[in-house]
Parts: sequence; structure tokens; C-alpha cells
Amino acid sequence: MKPETLPPLDVDALWRRCLHIVRQRRLGEPPQDGPALTWEASQGFALGDEWSAEAAELFTLVKPLLDRTSGSTPWVIGQLGQSLNGCIATRSGDANYINGAEVLLHLHRLRALSDAVVVGAATAGLDNPQLTTRRVEGDNPVRVVIDPALRLPASLRVFSDRAAPTLLVCDAEREAEAASRVGADQVLGVPRLTGPDGIVDVRALQAALAGRGLRVLFVEGGGVTVSHFMRQGCMDRLHLSVAAVVIGDGRPGLSLPQDLSMGDCARPASRVYRMGGDVLWDLDLRAATSSAGTASTST
Ligand SMILES: NC(=O)c1ccc[n+]([C@@H]2O[C@H](COP(=O)([O-])OP(=O)(O)OC[C@H]3O[C@@H](n4cnc5c(N)ncnc54)[C@H](OP(=O)(O)O)[C@@H]3O)[C@@H](O)[C@H]2O)c1
Repeated sequence: MKPETLPPLDVDALWRRCLHIVRQRRLGEPPQDGPALTWEASQGFALGDEWSAEAAELFTLVKPLLDRTSGSTPWVIGQLGQSLNGCIATRSGDANYINGAEVLLHLHRLRALSDAVVVGAATAGLDNPQLTTRRVEGDNPVRVVIDPALRLPASLRVFSDRAAPTLLVCDAEREAEAASRVGADQVLGVPRLTGPDGIVDVRALQAALAGRGLRVLFVEGGGVTVSHFMRQGCMDRLHLSVAAVVIGDGRPGLSLPQDLSMGDCARPASRVYRMGGDVLWDLDLRAATSSAGTASTST
């Protein structure tokens, strides 16, 4: 008699394993082997042969998040969904429907795998986002809003819906003022958060969040916030989704004010994924080279 061949394990089965890994991490438990998914300290998680091609592709994309352990140093993944000409919203701030449903699903997955989702004040004010994991199974991350000028109203959903823990981040000196608006439990005052130039010290923010046990950060936007993380060398990975749309004179995505010769420009190691009609670039910013010619991998 022929041995029975089992069907490959699918994306849903992988996602359940991903959630289990992240819950263990959040509980401070060390990573562990499980069926068809092994852990080695030097390599992180690895898949067995039992998985479908689709599950294997999702695993490759999210493995860097799964490999974080509870004691790891802070680690940051950012995302931007942009037009062909590098805009993340129209000039008035409309970012709806740049990317398709597949990219949105992916964003919710990244939220579920992170300890905290971070947005800038402009995104919070213009989009009034919920920043929850409602499109996927999985726990909500802590919602972090960088609002050094305390310009945001308390009526925004992140501050009022209590769907997930929220932290408004401001300078420690303005903590009491922020608390009077949104409640003390929703404020994180960081000593010396902003310098005289008004720029938020992203490392000070990371350290304060790590003090709350939030080490795996998903910086969801907008362009100004993601760019500050990159400029200050505080971003490890970037998922850049490009949609086949052209936005005239819109809000810029990455903005890095260096005037470098082409040979000195960073070329991050990359993989490319199709997501419906969009193309997602998975950029490993810690494996950047400054010379031309690093090959990218396409799936
Ligand atoms: N397509 C996408 O993927 C995507 C994702 C998210 C948002 N969006 C869109 O992007 C637009 C908003 O993005 P944006 O780039 O204009 O702004 P943003 O990054 O959302 O917010 C920028 C603001 O956040 C505060 N901030 C955050 N980090 C800072 C830092 N390191 N230093 C100083 N201030 C910091 C500052 O507030 P103050 O000025 O008050 O000091 C700054 O002006 C919206 O239209 C939204 O719809 C698109």
C-alpha cells in the first residue's frame, strides 16, 4: 500500500504558528521548536518541507519579526505605500486606496507581529486611524503616536476608542499637559525627546518604549516619521509597497537630505514580492552596501 501523502500546511496554519511565537515572546518566554518549524539561536526559525509555497513565501517575509526574542535589542520595521512617483498621499493628505487589499492585509499582519505600531502626528490627525489588527487574527499592538507639539485632539479614535493600549509620546516636560487631555495612562513623557531643532530623538523614544517592554516597533508612517527613523539609523527593515498610480505634487515618502554621488548611495539588500497589483520591496537596511550592483531577489 502507498503511504498516504499529507496536504501541505497552508498560510492559515503558518499564521497560527506566527501568533504563538509572538505571544511567547511577549510573555518573555524563549523561542521553541514546534512541528515543521524549528528554532536555532544562530539562524532563527526555519521551516520544514511540509509547508505550501504560499506559506513559505509569507514565512520569508515575516521571519525577521519572528526571530526577535524577548531579550533582544530594540528592532524597527517601517512601511510606506507609495505611488510610482514616490508620494504616500495627495497634497491634502488623502492616502486611501493607494495600495490594494493584499498590502492592507500585510500591514495588519505586521501590526499583529509587533509590540507597538508607531505613527506621526500628521498621520494620526489626518487619517484618524484605528491601528488595530481587525483584518487578521491576532492581538493588537500598543499604539504609539508621536505628538511633540500636542496638536492632536483627544477625540481621535486612538485616544478615545480604548480598542488597544495607546501612548501619546511627548517631552517629559509636557507630560502633565498631555495627561490632562488624553488621560495619564495614555501618555509617555520622554526626557529630552526633542532637541532645539524640534527633531525627535528617535533613540530616546526607542529606549523609553523598551522600558515599557516594547522592543519590536512597526513604524507605519507617514513619510516624515519613517524618514526620521532612517536618518537617525534606527530602522532595520523597510517594506516599501509601490502601486501603479501617479500622484501629482503629493506628500513625499522617504526624504533623506544627503547630497551623495551615485556610487555612495545606499543599496539595501532586497527581495521583491507581488501583492495583488502592487509590488512590495522588502529592504534589509542593515545589509546595505554603498556600491552599485547588489542583486535583488524576486518571488
Ligand atoms: N501611504 C502610506 O503608507 C501612508 C502611511 C501613513 C500615513 N500616510 C499619509 O501620510 C500623511 C502624513 O504623513 P507625513 O509624512 O506628512 O507626517 P507624519 O510622519 O505622519 O507626521 C509627522 C509629524 O509627526 C511628528 N514627528 C514624528 N516623528 C518626528 C521626529 N522624529 N521629529 C520631529 N517630529 C516628528 C511631528 O509632529 P509636529 O509637526 O506636530 O511636531 C511631525 O511633523 C497623511 O496624509 C497620511 O494619510 C500614508
